[in-house]
Amino acid sequence: MTQDEMKKAAAIKALEFIENDTIVGVGTGSTVNHFIDALATIKNKITGAVSSSEESSKRLIAHGIEVFDLNSVDNLDVYIDGADEITKHKSMIKGGGAALTREKIVAAVAKKFICIADSSKQVELLGDFPLPVEVIPMARSYVARELVKLGGDPVYRQGVITDNGNVILDVYNLSIIDPKALEIAINAVVGVVTNGLFAQRGADILILGSENGAQVIQ
Ligand code: 5RP
Repeated sequence: MTQDEMKKAAAIKALEFIENDTIVGVGTGSTVNHFIDALATIKNKITGAVSSSEESSKRLIAHGIEVFDLNSVDNLDVYIDGADEITKHKSMIKGGGAALTREKIVAAVAKKFICIADSSKQVELLGDFPLPVEVIPMARSYVARELVKLGGDPVYRQGVITDNGNVILDVYNLSIIDPKALEIAINAVVGVVTNGLFAQRGADILILGSENGAQVIQ
């Protein structure tokens, strides 16, 4: 199986977690794109979706799936999203697609976070993938200096503006031994909107696509 086939296998398996007549929380990325395409096959059974990015909203709408504003939704049973890295404790690095802030917001509302990923995303320790940090544009240099004090090497993601009008710093060479503590420390820097560590609210279930198909890890 190719990496993309593994992503697709995980995405299709996630349909088993979708209840009838519910609104589904939908993440962002190439794995989620497979999930959106699969969701379209059962679109008449669901009420609609809440989306974590303009990109996913467009794909959902193109499939005829109604996209609700999160403010009009009281609760979400599930949030389905990919990850750039995930540990056995289901802590993650996310934000490779620059959608981390909206992803974190929708994940916070959902009762269950189901991560769909191919096997290359499973890691012992987070941090080989540079940690994305969404930053208010005027604070970019200040936040970069503070991230250096925290032990990282921030790099400005050129040419990328998030759906919220902000910029991304990708932080290399962080030693992420305590993801929950680092998530809090980075979010405490003035000018940071949020960072791509999903440790305080990690995933509840991992659906991992591998050579053997899709495996559900509770
Ligand atoms: C986007 C994300 C994605 O979930 C993450 O980058 C994984 O992407 P892909 O499914 O394309 O491998 O966090 O901000």
